[in-house]
Amino acid sequence: MSSALDGARERTTVLTLQQKKARGERISILAAYDFPTARLLDAAGIDAILVGDSLAMVVLGHETTLAATMDEMLHHARAVARGARRALLVGDMPFLSYQADPAEAVRNAGRFLKEGGMDAVKLEGGRDVEEAVRRIVRAGIPVMGHLGLQPQSVRRLGGFRVQGRTAAAALSLLDDARTLEDAGCFALVLESVPARVAEAITARVRIPTIGIGAGAGTDGQVLVLHDLVGLTDQPPRFAPRYADLGSAIGRAAAAFRRDVETGGFPGPEHSFTMPDDEWAAFSAALVPVGNRPR
Ligand code: KIV
Repeated sequence: MSSALDGARERTTVLTLQQKKARGERISILAAYDFPTARLLDAAGIDAILVGDSLAMVVLGHETTLAATMDEMLHHARAVARGARRALLVGDMPFLSYQADPAEAVRNAGRFLKEGGMDAVKLEGGRDVEEAVRRIVRAGIPVMGHLGLQPQSVRRLGGFRVQGRTAAAALSLLDDARTLEDAGCFALVLESVPARVAEAITARVRIPTIGIGAGAGTDGQVLVLHDLVGLTDQPPRFAPRYADLGSAIGRAAAAFRRDVETGGFPGPEHSFTMPDDEWAAFSAALVPVGNRPR
């Protein structure tokens, strides 16, 4: 039920996601970074939009997510917030915005809500970020955890590799998941972990798990929109392609170029008119082109 405080919209909240898990309903989340796509995802009924630090790779052309800055993340968070009326909005805390100092983590998390219009933040890590998570949650900010492949640790991991493939690594993941749940996370992303490990973790935590490359046994799924719609060159194996906007944009741009070069564009329907009497007065005042002083 919405209250006066919710304004005109029926906003998805962290409780909505937890209720979905309790009812056995699957949760859909997409990463997106701008106003028009936020509007489309919101209208499509996606539960939550993640302004992911994948921004650095997908939109800004970096090789990893390490380059994303707070200023860039907030800039895109604000654009998404202007486009979404209903979806829960989660801002991804970029590399070094929370790892060095829990107090700085609280301040940066707060900026996502105060300046970025987000409802919650996400950060990567397990026991190592427990204190930061506790402090952010204590400040009233909902936190989504992120375990398994943590792209901000790609240098330590030696690449974008599947995690939790040994019994010891899977047990360590489960420990981390429980730690994050105890620290107050409202949901947990599990990235690139074996399907049966993700399913086992999902059965052992009360908060919703959101898989990406983690099989069908999680409570929800998150993907990067650009992978789904053909706007990335090498989408990960776990990302299906629902549309090929890359080809569509390429064809549209080539057709535009052809029309400009052949004079097919613009036509009268793309041009503006001027009343005849105004045109007559304007032309009478014109110095003939050949007589122009050089
Ligand atoms: O940055 C991102 O988009 C993410 C998701 C893919 C989980 O962290």
